[in-house]
Amino acid sequence: MLTPLAASPQQLREFFTEAGFTFGRFKEDPTMRDLPSRRLGNLPALLERTAEPTALNVLLRWFLLGQTQEIESFAELVPASVLTELLETGTLVREANRFTPAVMLTPCEEFLFAADPARTLESPESSGMILWPNPSTRMLQMFTIRRPTGTTLDLGAGCGILAVLASVHSRHVVATDLNPRAAEFVAFNAWLNGVTNLECLTGDTFEPVRGRTFDLIVSNPPFFVTPSAGQMYCENSMELDGYCRELVRAAPGYLNEGGYLQITFEWVQVRGQSWQDRLAEWLKDSGCDAWILRSYARKAADYAAERIGRMMPFSTLTANQRLDEWMAYYRAREVEEVHGGILAMRRRSGRNWLRIEHVPGLDCTEPFGESIEELFANQNRLEADRSTSQMLAWRPRVAPDTRIDQQLHLVAGEWKPSSMQIRRVDGLPSSLAADPQVVEFLRQCDGTRTLADLADNLAPVVHVNPEQVREQCCAVMRKLVERRLVLL
Ligand SMILES: C[S@@+](CC[C@H](N)C(=O)[O-])C[C@H]1O[C@@H](n2cnc3c(N)ncnc32)[C@H](O)[C@@H]1O
Repeated sequence: MLTPLAASPQQLREFFTEAGFTFGRFKEDPTMRDLPSRRLGNLPALLERTAEPTALNVLLRWFLLGQTQEIESFAELVPASVLTELLETGTLVREANRFTPAVMLTPCEEFLFAADPARTLESPESSGMILWPNPSTRMLQMFTIRRPTGTTLDLGAGCGILAVLASVHSRHVVATDLNPRAAEFVAFNAWLNGVTNLECLTGDTFEPVRGRTFDLIVSNPPFFVTPSAGQMYCENSMELDGYCRELVRAAPGYLNEGGYLQITFEWVQVRGQSWQDRLAEWLKDSGCDAWILRSYARKAADYAAERIGRMMPFSTLTANQRLDEWMAYYRAREVEEVHGGILAMRRRSGRNWLRIEHVPGLDCTEPFGESIEELFANQNRLEADRSTSQMLAWRPRVAPDTRIDQQLHLVAGEWKPSSMQIRRVDGLPSSLAADPQVVEFLRQCDGTRTLADLADNLAPVVHVNPEQVREQCCAVMRKLVERRLVLL
């Protein structure tokens, strides 16, 4: 049982920071995050790596590798008062002179999060486990819009990482989860991180917040497309991608006007239907603008093999038997591929838009929530200002992190420019191939001049009829705005 103490967590947190058990160190050396796995048989190597007697290695062995340690091995490295707090909070359990961790601890930004230890994944308890921050958590963490907001809901909060992160920019945060154990972890992690504007509720999907509305909803739901439903942290009881569909269909009813839903999710492509059409059906008449970014697609058999290899829930079936079971399930439902990505939707009265894109191997290591807001702002303008006269009134501004890449190739012994690419270097990647004229035109887009003014100045330089130049400038500007290379 995890127990928040009456005392502040400051002493505990300082000890972890001074030992180097920090997000910064984990980022510098991602191998520090390696978890022991029976499947990989990597424990001996991880123990070897943490053999030197340092405070950091003691913490890594407890809270990442899940190892019991005897008092003789760490007495000089962990102050007695810190040890007492670890025992009082229930993060560490003592049996004679042996100290066993009850949780995994993960640093993230300036916070620290308790979740179930890695060994739970390979045990019969895996069905109700509270998952530690993982790649899909990190994707949502990067993706979340972090502007100051009123109320935020973290649906399927697990250990509460997204809720705690949102507490910094939200007036109030509600964290919900079907798993009753989640409330214990969320409350503990709120204490551990000094967060006081967080409320934990238990229940199915939106049930615990029926009748309430939010400015931001974030969710990293149990989205795996599997024939079973036993693992609550990643599976659900609905057919295929039905759970994510229901979440997306219900969410608008829980959003305030202007409020966003942001999720990571997976969906299937079935025979006779494109993956885009399936998503368009989910978003039909939602009352929201929506942007979906697909970052991967797998053939059904590859997806099954990959997931079965990684999930490793406690099972009496062999991997081959499980693969047969999964493939029979997919075949019966005509599933050809499984796709994954992120979705942002924003409630807005009026005619709504839907944009679906593919960005292969999306791997952002810095927050890109601001890019999402820019994308929605730009797309709203593109939808609202469809006529040339409306567009000519725009005052375009090049985003400050825009760069031009130029390629040169050798022609008759001389380097000649061959192609140019405009791209954003911060946030969500975006680029557009362009010619030198567009690049020169872009240079003048500083937000002070209208597009009409910019086009009229260009006409005499290129010796083309001003009306034609205006039309062409509008066409190019639409592409630049669509890709966020220009802001309005
Ligand atoms: C992939 S984990 C995400 C945990 C955490 N938010 C994160 O990003 O690391 C999904 C969470 O959804 C919860 N969950 C599963 N089914 C649910 C349901 N029907 N309603 C609410 N939460 C659910 C699970 O218990 C689990 O904590």
